[in-house]
Amino acid sequence: MTRHLLRDDDLSPAEQSAILDRAARMKVDRFGERPLAGPQTVAVIFDKSSTRTRVSFAVGIADLGGVPLVISTASSQLGGKETASDTARVLERQVAAIAWRTYAQSGLEEMAAGTTVPVVNALSDDFHPCQLLADLLTIREHKGELAGLRVAFVGDGGDNMVHSYLLACATAGIHLRVAHPVAYGPRRAIVDDAIRIAAQTGGSITLLSDPAEAVDGVDVVVTDTWVSMGREDQKAERLAAFSGYQVTRELMALAAGDAIFLHCLPADRGFEVEAAVIDGPQSVIWDEAENRLHAQKALLAWLLEQD
Ligand code: CP
Ligand code: NVA
Repeated sequence: MTRHLLRDDDLSPAEQSAILDRAARMKVDRFGERPLAGPQTVAVIFDKSSTRTRVSFAVGIADLGGVPLVISTASSQLGGKETASDTARVLERQVAAIAWRTYAQSGLEEMAAGTTVPVVNALSDDFHPCQLLADLLTIREHKGELAGLRVAFVGDGGDNMVHSYLLACATAGIHLRVAHPVAYGPRRAIVDDAIRIAAQTGGSITLLSDPAEAVDGVDVVVTDTWVSMGREDQKAERLAAFSGYQVTRELMALAAGDAIFLHCLPADRGFEVEAAVIDGPQSVIWDEAENRLHAQKALLAWLLEQD
């Protein structure tokens, strides 16, 4: 049965943990596994802009002995003249896997349903599961065992990053607090899924409106842009709604003394985070960005073994 990663809870706790272990090994021995030797090709498709995802998939596929085929949707037939499922039927005869950065989650579901090769969500409007594998790898490197850690996400609670934090942290047994303006909260069905998973792993989910309450004593503080790709027309109202949610030095001082700060990047310094925090000693954003490479290599290697 072909496995896909469309959302974070497509991985069980044991599978998530095994991929993180493998990513850590691959980071130490970067060229030690070559499951794409042949070489086989992996298609990486972008409907939206990208730096980290584009580079880390291209480099990672090459590290694994394969060839990356990076496609800009605007220059392909996908989305214009051709459906996701027809595109997948064409690609599966020639590539080992497909990664796709797109808008609607339903497009990824359609692609995955119509193909025999693994499909990876390289960011959708709803989830960013590759980023969460990198974030959890980074947190593990700095804090050790994930289960039982306290993590606070502050800011846009209604977007892909927070939805992925909900599901991935629940899977890892983490205690996650999310502080968001009332009008920008996570989708209820995703919160319910996260609560159900957390009940099995020993984690927990707490939704709050007060950033100070959310970061009190936590091990990890996370934020993301207030204006995600595709929401640029809402910029003015979003900057107003999120003005009390900036991660400042004062806010970080409420977390544990050795707390770390994460941001998936790209960042808007002076909006969701103060420059002194993201560029300060508690920030681990460059480790986090590098870990996209190792986490996705482990994910691809694992997916290719599943069918
Ligand atoms: N964090 C992340 O996905 O970055 P890019 O948009 O540059 O790929
Ligand atoms: N939430 C952001 C993440 C960017 C990597 C966006 O979707 O634009």
